[in-house]
Amino acid sequence: MRSCGAPVGLCVEHYAGDVLGIPYAEPRLSWQYSCEVPCGVEIEVSLVRSVRGGVETVETSVVSCESNVLCQWPFAPLASCERAQVRVRVVSQSGLQSDGVLSPWSDPVTFETGLLQAYERVADFVGPSWPEFETDHRHQPLVRTEVVFDKPVKWARLYLTALGLVEAEINGCKVGSDVLTPGWTDYRNRLLCFTYDISALLQVGANVFGFWLGDGWYRGRVGFDGGEANVWGDRLGVFAQIEVTYADGTTLSVYSNSSDECWKTALGPITRSNMYEGEWYDARLVQLGWSQPGFDDSDWLPVAEIPFDEQRIMFPVFEGIRVDGTGQPLSVESRQVADGSTQWVVDMGQNASRRLRIYMHGLSRGQKVTIRHGEVLDKDGGLVERILKRGKQTDVYISDGGDEWWEPRFTMHGCRYVIISGWVGTLQREDIIGVVYHSSMRRTGWFECSNAMVNQLHDNTLWSMRSNFMSIPTDCPQRDERVGWTADIALFAPTALYLYDATGFLSSWLEDVDYEQRVYGTVPYYVPYVPMGFWAHPTALALWGDVAVMLPWDVYMASGDTHVLEVNYDLARRWLAEVNGYLSDDGVWDRKPELATGQLGDWLDPQAPPDEADRAMTAKELVATAFHAHSCDVMSRIAAVLGHDEDAAYYAERFEYVRQGFMQRFISRDGRMTSDTQCAYALAIMFQLHDEHMTRQLADRLSALVRAADSRVGTGFAGTPYVLPALTQTGHYDEAFSLFLSTKCPSWLYQVSMGATTTWERWDSMLPNGDVNPGSMTSFNHYALGSVNDWVHAVIAGISPLSPGWKRIRVAPRVNGNITHASARHDTPYGPLSIEWKVLDDQLHMRLEVPYGTSAVVNMPGLADEILRGGIYERIYSLPL
Ligand code: BGC
Repeated sequence: MRSCGAPVGLCVEHYAGDVLGIPYAEPRLSWQYSCEVPCGVEIEVSLVRSVRGGVETVETSVVSCESNVLCQWPFAPLASCERAQVRVRVVSQSGLQSDGVLSPWSDPVTFETGLLQAYERVADFVGPSWPEFETDHRHQPLVRTEVVFDKPVKWARLYLTALGLVEAEINGCKVGSDVLTPGWTDYRNRLLCFTYDISALLQVGANVFGFWLGDGWYRGRVGFDGGEANVWGDRLGVFAQIEVTYADGTTLSVYSNSSDECWKTALGPITRSNMYEGEWYDARLVQLGWSQPGFDDSDWLPVAEIPFDEQRIMFPVFEGIRVDGTGQPLSVESRQVADGSTQWVVDMGQNASRRLRIYMHGLSRGQKVTIRHGEVLDKDGGLVERILKRGKQTDVYISDGGDEWWEPRFTMHGCRYVIISGWVGTLQREDIIGVVYHSSMRRTGWFECSNAMVNQLHDNTLWSMRSNFMSIPTDCPQRDERVGWTADIALFAPTALYLYDATGFLSSWLEDVDYEQRVYGTVPYYVPYVPMGFWAHPTALALWGDVAVMLPWDVYMASGDTHVLEVNYDLARRWLAEVNGYLSDDGVWDRKPELATGQLGDWLDPQAPPDEADRAMTAKELVATAFHAHSCDVMSRIAAVLGHDEDAAYYAERFEYVRQGFMQRFISRDGRMTSDTQCAYALAIMFQLHDEHMTRQLADRLSALVRAADSRVGTGFAGTPYVLPALTQTGHYDEAFSLFLSTKCPSWLYQVSMGATTTWERWDSMLPNGDVNPGSMTSFNHYALGSVNDWVHAVIAGISPLSPGWKRIRVAPRVNGNITHASARHDTPYGPLSIEWKVLDDQLHMRLEVPYGTSAVVNMPGLADEILRGGIYERIYSLPL
């Protein structure tokens, strides 16, 4: 039998590579093939398992070669703290004798379970034992304990979480590379516990475990309109469970607790810390060696226990927040200000979520350096801080007279520019390192074409995604908001899931959407939900709440994982049932939600007044009904995938009912819509809310509107992802490309022409005259309008999924505008898919790589579809097509 190459890309669930502390006893495995798998083969899976570093046992199992994406765990369930090393190879069906082996082993993937049962999470939360009165700007504590290991350690794990944020040190070394642990969840629902391999940090003899604690989201002020502090609690605490196996096989467990008097606490050098407002650090308060053996902690206080239900501790299905690149500033320049002092203006060249690591040197004891972060400078070179509102993003460092590299710990800044004041002497580029952070995910998508502005737009989208995938999908990373607005991700998810494998990240967040929906009886505007100001009472909003249906579907389409549909099925069902109760008799959602604005509709329509982003040109009830119809349609597909046939029929009926209502209310016989706007036509076309015979009329009107607008965008959040697909799906390529390639305001490339390095919240966050939009809500780093890139990938590059997990792929590049070349790659669950096309003379040259185990349908205008299986293909087509 024909032999083949080793399977590649072996991974467990949706983690990228090796991982510790997973919550699954029976995790699913995925791998890819680097060649067509011959008929009559199977896959041998080999497992080396050991609990707590104990005796290793080896097992093998044989599974079908077709279940290579999310293959069921083929062994007995894993226990807690059990390490598994898995590899796979191709074998013949006839058996596993040596002549039946058809491929080498894949590279192994290694993973380990966390503490799977709640009763195994036995540590306590411990923290400061003194009364803390204030609600803001509290001095941040440290916790330490010393443990003696009397013999060599073979295996050691730290299971770590906190009420607040935590960073651990052992014997003076930072543990792991995560920051802002344990991230942001609705802590009433769950608190994530991260696992670290600390074997190499431990020594025979005394060892010190030290913990920095910070307010973070847990009790720090979060949100807008003044925000809220102490949302989940007002006392910080660390949960540290240390499990050790000695080389001789005996074990030891160390738990954070308040009863053995070995855990102590004191104030540290961080004198205040807030996610949005920044961090204050007084180097004079550093207690040298506090996380090392031999330190005298006799004046530290015993810790207090902070009660918390261990049932709510969960192990994460995605990875922590980590560094994604460091770099020196583009420039560092001095500037004199009115009071005669000098400021240093740092330009990082790129807007991003980052912190600065600064070489603090030549400062005298007690000297205060202030570091302010912002996205744009005003015409005088000052930082535009108005748009940050309360989120002033200001770090303060007070020197002890020594030199050191310093970076804040429990804050994050959305910034391109930084202004440093209080510095004496000269600041050089070499003194500053910008450190970019986001939730760690595997990059899976690339795009590039012959138009540099389009490439910049794509890059900007990537940066806005990175900046806002910070434990949860946030709207923006800079002002006093940074919350998980539901519509933003509902619209951006298809683009996000192309660029990165965000399946674990988004599935995790959906767990809180589900929770909040059960608590509030509706999908709140943002998740985790905190009642604030105008948004203090959750009420159902179309599109925002439709995340409950749209997001699981998008994750499923990208990953092929039906699990995400199963676990969110009730969430989606409850959401649709709720909205059903708000419909008028004709199926239109025109009942106003209990919010002064009513629905948010086509939010941030460019014609809406700067401070009334909901006052769009498209009727709110039209947008609401369209999204409800769409969700019923998607839900019917979800039910069908899960085999709930009755539900599938029911939601198909609901879709038809709402669709009829939509048509009767919003489309007249002559094919005009009651809202004669780009958004209205785009939604009617893309959600199939019209009689088929009317498609042409609607599409012609849409293209006429685009021409009449001189190729300016007329959509807000709701219409933006759909306007270009509606044009191209109906054959209006010229209008689609001229709208997309326009640089007039408002348009996607207008932002690029104004020097944007991220996608903006408003089409004109910066006005054509260079002024910042006067709207009080103006961010330069929102991903929602970057949702256009789903169209860029599908139509300019020409690749999109036809079935879940990209098992069937559509290849349909369209040559138009001034784009003469494009290339793209998406690492699908089955392996890399890539396309590269070029116009040469009168021909289109295309090179295509189709992943093994998938098929691609190549659709070129005027030609019969071609079906291609895994492999590399070159094609030449005569132009025009
Ligand atoms: C956020 C949005 C969000 C909107 C809803 C804004 O302040 O930044 O992106 O969806 O509010 O009202």
